[in-house]
This record gives sequence, structure tokens and C-alpha cells, in this order.
Amino acid sequence: MNLRSIMTAVTAATVLLTASAAVNTLTVKTSKLGAPVQPTMYGLFFEDINYAADGGLYAELIKNRSFEFPQSLMGWESFGKVELKDDGPFERAPHYVRLSPSGHREKYTGLVNEGFFGIGVTKDEDYRFSVWARTVDPGEKAVIRVELIDPSTMGEKQAFSRVEVEVSGNEWKKYTAVIKSDKTIDKAKLRIFLKKPEAMVDLEHISLFPVNTFNGHENGLRADLAQLLKDVNPGVLRFPGGCIVEGTDPDTRYKWKETVGPVENRPTNENRWHYTFPHRFFPDYYQSYGLGFYEYFQLAEEIGAEPLPILNVGLVCQFQNSPDQQIPMDSLDIFIQDAIDLVEFANGDVTTPWGRVRADMGHPEPFNMKFIGIGNEQWDSIYPQRLEPFVKKFRKAHPEIRIVGSSGPDSEGKQFEYLWPEMTRLKADLVDEHFYRPETWFLAQGARYDNYDRKGPKVFAGEYACHGKGRKYNHYNAALLEAAFMTGLERNADLVHMATYAPLFAHVEGWQWRPDMIWFDNLRSMPTCSYYVQQLYARNKGTNVLPLTMDGNAIVGAQGQNGLFASAVADTDNNTVIIKVANTGEEPQQLDINFDGLKKKESINGGKVITFTSTDPMAENTLDDPDRMAPVESPIVAEGKFYTTTIAPKTFQVYIFNRTSKK
Ligand code: AHR
Repeated sequence: MNLRSIMTAVTAATVLLTASAAVNTLTVKTSKLGAPVQPTMYGLFFEDINYAADGGLYAELIKNRSFEFPQSLMGWESFGKVELKDDGPFERAPHYVRLSPSGHREKYTGLVNEGFFGIGVTKDEDYRFSVWARTVDPGEKAVIRVELIDPSTMGEKQAFSRVEVEVSGNEWKKYTAVIKSDKTIDKAKLRIFLKKPEAMVDLEHISLFPVNTFNGHENGLRADLAQLLKDVNPGVLRFPGGCIVEGTDPDTRYKWKETVGPVENRPTNENRWHYTFPHRFFPDYYQSYGLGFYEYFQLAEEIGAEPLPILNVGLVCQFQNSPDQQIPMDSLDIFIQDAIDLVEFANGDVTTPWGRVRADMGHPEPFNMKFIGIGNEQWDSIYPQRLEPFVKKFRKAHPEIRIVGSSGPDSEGKQFEYLWPEMTRLKADLVDEHFYRPETWFLAQGARYDNYDRKGPKVFAGEYACHGKGRKYNHYNAALLEAAFMTGLERNADLVHMATYAPLFAHVEGWQWRPDMIWFDNLRSMPTCSYYVQQLYARNKGTNVLPLTMDGNAIVGAQGQNGLFASAVADTDNNTVIIKVANTGEEPQQLDINFDGLKKKESINGGKVITFTSTDPMAENTLDDPDRMAPVESPIVAEGKFYTTTIAPKTFQVYIFNRTSKK
């Protein structure tokens, strides 16, 4: 029995099952190490859309904690004698409340916060309450009672956990107390009231965080959500968006400088997603900036991803503003300076003004930022006009930083055709492409990058997702087509240096846009099928592209290729050959894989295959059934220079073959 027949025999069970499968002979050239796969290749796109930041990843549980929403008590109910004041200790967040005795011993004064769609707390977990407070008169003392309440209970008491905080003196001070939750509930509220008879007390920046945040940071992130990000093994983290970078008008654009420094002194900004879509209004959607640029850089570092900040190029959202409403060219300096100062904030020495801000926040070491995006989803000549002075000044100041430009909102067409040559002319290092497209588009794009110009900028597939026609859910078929499309990213890793699915997060009660990669509510979170596809690529990205062909052609789902899409990489660190195959067709397909170029003593020796499949193309995970869809790993029994197997219909597989050499 020769090696090929041994390998065929070990897979006989699979082959028998699929006697009708067509035979597809795939050849991988194992000795032709191609372009390196960039460490940044597969990453994450973060935008505060769908309550991704406040009410999501940012673990703060109190909405409008500083009373800075335009409707100052939004999110709060007050009772007794509560006054709003605006001469507080924090210049950029000046509002606070004054609680005075109600004037009657049987009446209380206090406030209740509703959280973001409620406050999610878990039994026996600790929560850190904090507040800036003072008494109104010097030498006075006041006690405030802080309670977690279950407003829907039929029980005797609404409060299920409580703590008391004594406020003394008329100097503003930060008070903290830990409350252990006696209950698991996703829609608790926080009640604070003055114990009576008491002095008057002023309260500012009323905050409640789980003690257990991601890596334990006090101004931290929800541990389950951040862990899901880390588990992807992302190579890059793009932040803070998205359209949020642009804003609906100049006032609401994202201003990174307002998002750093003490968290209490960060101003609140409107979230442009709160009334963008009339079919899903969220009038209470604001940005506290508690998750700001320091926290984004820190997150990138802690999940092992390169930070990729995107800054405003001097354009507000072009969907919402005509050219004559745009920021004039002679006002660009402030935007350019923002970008230059950002490099100092991220990388500068602690003796520089912005480096000092970073150091004071707890990170004297640089964040090692290497990339910056200038403009999000821009188009027309008003974009290159603004980008040009940006690039000129930025190149002089920071030639070491790579600049990402935009190719507009469309995956092809007039703007796209106009912007790519413009980005080449301006010598952008990467061009950000966006495509939220239906199934047919993804099926037709397997070879998208095969013939791109290799002399121009590199590609950043910066926002993409398969939007099922008539059904924009995170169902399996959409993810399968994303997996198929991504074989083309991988095959062209010399050109495509970054790719990020978008958007990343969505709160089930607060979304404006779907599909999204991770869904959550106040206590639970759930990876979608698309999440698993991203993870499979990012965890198995290898180090170098290997040529993989079928009948001499790249496997791109072309006619006669039986719905197959495939790509291969070598992982030289682990001595493996990794082949990704998506069978988008309705039939099983036999794969005869020929490992060409192995030396005489070399062979393929076992490995594993990770299979993501479903007989129901509409299958998806839900928060109630979060594990319904997940890839499954099994060993590969293989030895030699050939491998035969069968891939089921509508299936994505990642084969990781060990490559060994006999002495
Ligand atoms: O990902 C959602 C939005 O889609 C982004 O904010 C924007 O860049 C694109 O239009």
C-alpha cells in the first residue's frame, strides 16, 4: 500500500459517506513561502453604536452619572428636595445635585438611577460605588444610603443590598464604598437618599462599577465582553469608529482630547446614533467619554492588538451634511494639530505635555502607536482636499506613522474609482474599504484582490459584513460567506494588511444596526457565527501565504469550482500548513489535497481540523441559546504527501496539518 492509499484508507469512512461527492484536487505549494501575513491582518472595529461603549463594554452602570445630559436628570428619578447646580468642581462637567432635607420627618430626599436598560448585578459580586460629595455647611456631616433595588419585586423590600456613606465637610471629596449584591438581576436600579434628619449634601459623578472589570481597572471594561475581544486574538483594534468620528455636526464630532485625563472632568457628547434612524430612536444615548483614548490604547495593549485610532479629517458626516455645511478648509489646523498631538499622547516622552497626560493616567511607557486613520467614510473631492494638507504636515512631523485613507462608503462604483487613485496620489499607506453587502456580492468577491495594483497603498478592509438579503441577522449563512470571502483576503496578504468586521457590539435592547459580531444584554453576552469566523482566521493566520490552486487556478468560487473557496498559509513558527476551505454549495465535495514541494524526508503528520457547519443556513446563536452554533475541533489522521477528505455542504473548515521531517 503506498502512502496515498494509506491516507485514503484512513479517511475511508468520510469518503464512503459521500460517494456522490465531486472530486476536487487541490495543490498546495509547501516550499513556496509567499508574502508574510501581517500581524495586523485580522482585527476588531470598535464603534460606540448599539450601546457598545456606555451601557456595553464600558462597565459603568450609572447613566448620566454627572448630570451632563442636556436634560440634566435624564436617567434619574428624584424625590424630595433635589436641586440641579452647575458650579461643580469639574470644569468640563460642571453639573451636580444638591439634596436637602424635605422639610418633613416622614419624607425623604433622594434619587434613583435606571442604568442602561436597567442595572445588571450578579449575586455575591462586589460593586464599587463612588461619588464626589460635600456638605453645604462646613463642619457638618451627612449620611447617604445607597441601595440596589429591584423595582419589580412583589417582596416586602425593594432594596436587596445597601451601604451607607458618611459625607463630612464642605470640601469636595471622592467617597467610595463596596456593595455586595444579594441578588442576580438584570434590571436593578440604584437608589440614593439622605438619611434624616440630615444636613444638605451635594453629589457629583455618581458611579457604580463591578469590582471585577477586565484586568481589574477601576475605570474599567465589562470583563465578559473584553474577554471575548481578547479571545479573537486580534491583530489590530480600530477605534473609536465609524461615523461617530465625524459626528452629525462639528460639535458632536469625536474629540479625543476631551476623552483623556481624570474621568470626572470629561465632557459628555451626544452619540450620533441616538436619532439617526427614525425606526429606532434612543434619545438617552450619549457618550460619557469614560471609555476614552487612554482606555482604548490600554485595551489594545491588553488584548495584544495594534492600536488604530481614526481621527476626523475636517468633515462631518457626509450622509447628513451637504458640502456647504462642511467645516471650511481654513479651519483645518485644529484637526491636524489633534492628530499630531495624538502621537505625542500615545508615544511621546513623559516630559512632553501630552506624554505627561498619559503618564499621569498611569502609563508612562509609550503605547507604540504605528497607524492613524484620517477620515472615516469620506468621499468627493472635499476629502482629498482636506487629506492633502494633513498628510503633508503629518509626514514631516511623524514620518514613522502609517496613514490610513478612505475609499468611501461603497465597495465599488464612482466614488471608489475616484478615491483609490487619489489615495495613491497622496501616498496613503493603507486604504480603508467598506462593504456591507448581500450574499450575492460576497459570493462574487473571492478574487476581488487578485488583480489589484501592487504598487499603490495596501488594503484595510475596515468595515464589512454580509447583510443577508431581507434578513440582516447574524445567521450562519452570512458567516459562511464571510469566511469564503476571507480566503481572498488571505491569499492576497501581500496587499491586504488589515481586515475588521463591523460593527462589533450590540445591546439587544439598544441596537441601531445589525448584524453585529457580539450581542449582549446587561448580564449575558454571546458570540455570533460571524465572531467565530473572525476568530478562526485570527487564531490561524499563519506566517506566510502558500500558493493553493485547483487545476492551476486560485480557488475563488468561480464557475466549475463547485462553490469552493480556499486559501493556504504556512505557520513557520509551528511548522504547520493551514488550509481554509469554504464549501458554499449544496453538495458535499471531495478534496484531494496534494502537498507539493515537500522534501523527500518531509511529510504531513496528523493535525486537526476545525469545522463550522450547519444544515440550517438561518441558524444563529441567541442569548438564551448562546452555544447553539460553534466550531468543532477534531484530529486529522494523516501521514504522507496527500490527504483526501470530504467537506460537507455549506461548511467552513480550517485544516491545520503538522509538517514533519524524518531524520
Ligand atoms: O458600522 C456602522 C457604520 O457603517 C459606521 O459607523 C460607518 O463607518 C459605516 O457607514
